[in-house]
Amino acid sequence: MKGIVLAGGNGTRLHPLTLGTSKQLLPVYNKPLIYYPISILMLAGIRDILVISSPSSLPMIRGLLSDGSQLGLNFSYRVQPTPRGIADAFLIGSDFIDGGPSALILGDNVFHGAGFPRLLRESVANVDGCTLFGYPVSDPERYGIGETDELGNLVSIEEKPLRPRSNNAITGLYMYDSEVVEIARSVTPSERGELEITDVNRAYLKQGRAKLVRLGRGFTWLDSGTHDSLLAAGQYVQVIEQRQGERVACLEEIAVRMGYISQESCARMAAEMRGSAYGRYLMEVAESLN
Ligand code: G1P
Repeated sequence: MKGIVLAGGNGTRLHPLTLGTSKQLLPVYNKPLIYYPISILMLAGIRDILVISSPSSLPMIRGLLSDGSQLGLNFSYRVQPTPRGIADAFLIGSDFIDGGPSALILGDNVFHGAGFPRLLRESVANVDGCTLFGYPVSDPERYGIGETDELGNLVSIEEKPLRPRSNNAITGLYMYDSEVVEIARSVTPSERGELEITDVNRAYLKQGRAKLVRLGRGFTWLDSGTHDSLLAAGQYVQVIEQRQGERVACLEEIAVRMGYISQESCARMAAEMRGSAYGRYLMEVAESLN
């Protein structure tokens, strides 16, 4: 399965933070925001990753991540000239997807929870149609919302409903079979002028091929599109990391633990960053694998 990180948008809700830099490069505690969605694709076992971003942000993101070989990954890049919506990622990325299954993750979504790597790998292995991930929220009118029947089957999906039928938000991680590009091509712009991912998901639902995996209590899903939610995400990561002594979304650690890079490569990158606590943590990881 291939992966897409949609790091689009103008970051207007984060002005003036994003006037001089890309939203996805802003810090969530000790790492750039984009590390978090990339970590999720890595944990899902996905190594071919397309990053889509705006003309001004893409060079900065490429400057950070380069071709991905340092992490045992393969990054490609494409520009989204204007923010035309999430489903546009499949039009921009159609040649990259090349007729296979794909996972899409939004560049500002932070996921964290015990057992998630296994759930991700199981979901990748079992995609038939589309797999969505639902999470209970207190402000459902801000999100795509999935309604389920008593058996947990998805029965409706609505984008930012005024009167939500449930509090189950559809998170910014989506897995699709090979038909997603064709379906995305059939979607027309919504009232807000965007190709809505919710319309793609509804098309799968209509075919009876949309599945909702619930990420319930004990799991954390955060978006970081506003000043408060960005700070909250940073504080969350700080609390977890300081309490447990382990790092969330440390890409080099994931790469070495998944066998994508050697212990020596990990130690080399750690040495380059030893001036920071992040680098020293990575050195400890590398040494523990000796
Ligand atoms: C988008 C999707 C929405 C989804 C959300 C997750 O919202 O349209 O369905 O629940 O991402 O972050 P937007 O960021 O466009 O408001």
